[in-house]
Amino acid sequence: MSDPEKEEVEDPKIEEIKSPEPTMGSHLKYISLGILVFQTTSLVLTMRYSRTLKEDGPRYLSSTAVVAAEVLKIITCIFLVYKDNSCSVRALNRVLHEEIINKPFDTLKLAIPAVIYTLQNNLLYVALSNLDAATYQVTYQLKILTTALFSVSMLQKRLTKFQWLSLVILMLGVTFVQWPTDSSSAPSKDVSSGSRFMGLMAVLTACFSSGFAGVYFEKILKETKQSVWIRNIQLGFFGGIFGLVGVYAYDGDSVSKGGFFQGYNNLTWTVVVLQALGGLVVAAVIKYADNILKGFATSLSIILSTLISYFWLQDFVPTSVFFVGAIFVISATFLYGYDPKPSVNPVKA
Ligand code: C5P
Repeated sequence: MSDPEKEEVEDPKIEEIKSPEPTMGSHLKYISLGILVFQTTSLVLTMRYSRTLKEDGPRYLSSTAVVAAEVLKIITCIFLVYKDNSCSVRALNRVLHEEIINKPFDTLKLAIPAVIYTLQNNLLYVALSNLDAATYQVTYQLKILTTALFSVSMLQKRLTKFQWLSLVILMLGVTFVQWPTDSSSAPSKDVSSGSRFMGLMAVLTACFSSGFAGVYFEKILKETKQSVWIRNIQLGFFGGIFGLVGVYAYDGDSVSKGGFFQGYNNLTWTVVVLQALGGLVVAAVIKYADNILKGFATSLSIILSTLISYFWLQDFVPTSVFFVGAIFVISATFLYGYDPKPSVNPVKA
């Protein structure tokens, strides 16, 4: 992968005006968005499947899977930095020293989104252990609203009236999707109302953390010159540490009895790889596109995972109200991205 950020280091404002670049940059934009659609869909389905599959022996501890994904992400990012530095170990060493170890204050800034993402990544497992994949994904679209609010307050972004309207439609849609769930025609099986409430709380909290952490990371990326992979190493470093704290706080006993990787199987490793890939792709999307286009990609993945959940996993029978709600949510996402006058860069610094 080329390194467009390298040539643009002098002035972050210049980078902002140029972004997204018409050639390599826009390719990267669409490639990263496409991979995000694939990754979001497959992660949600495999995670849900892996948490509900009946198996002999202990189920894997989701807190350890979060840590495993962080470690995998760091290794991948180190490899990408190595590749960007002409595959020279010496240059890699120098860059890691100069950009991470010699800039402790700068590195420390990433501890904030790291702690939030760690919480969020754990909440995601709670949500998907208690909600079906489709309900989870549609409700999680509320993060577009929180992302918008944080973008307005932290990036001084201005929203058009279409965008505000789309946020209202979004909230209506999410309400519809949640409406008649616990009746006799309840769409999900094996889900009690108590655990469903817990799943909903988890996903709603994740909406706030996603909005804040996404905008914070976008701000750091667009206001400073470090490469996205360096930023992700810093993020992953803290993410791994906070994740380990989580493992020992919640699953310390189980780990000392059954080991860190108890219950891991191929499916668990698939979830770990998909989650690590997700982190890398989200970072690339924030860098080459922005948080709004990220919303588009996740909406497309809703359509995909609903279809797969219905036809393939058969763990979800959508009611007509669900369909209306889902259509509202998806239309709102597209309306949010609708820009009557094309602008090069949605963020006003
Ligand atoms: O749902 P949302 O888009 O907020 O999910 C973001 C995901 O991407 C989280 O799992 C987070 O840990 C990950 N991420 C990352 N590196 C970034 C930004 C996000 O690993 N730079």
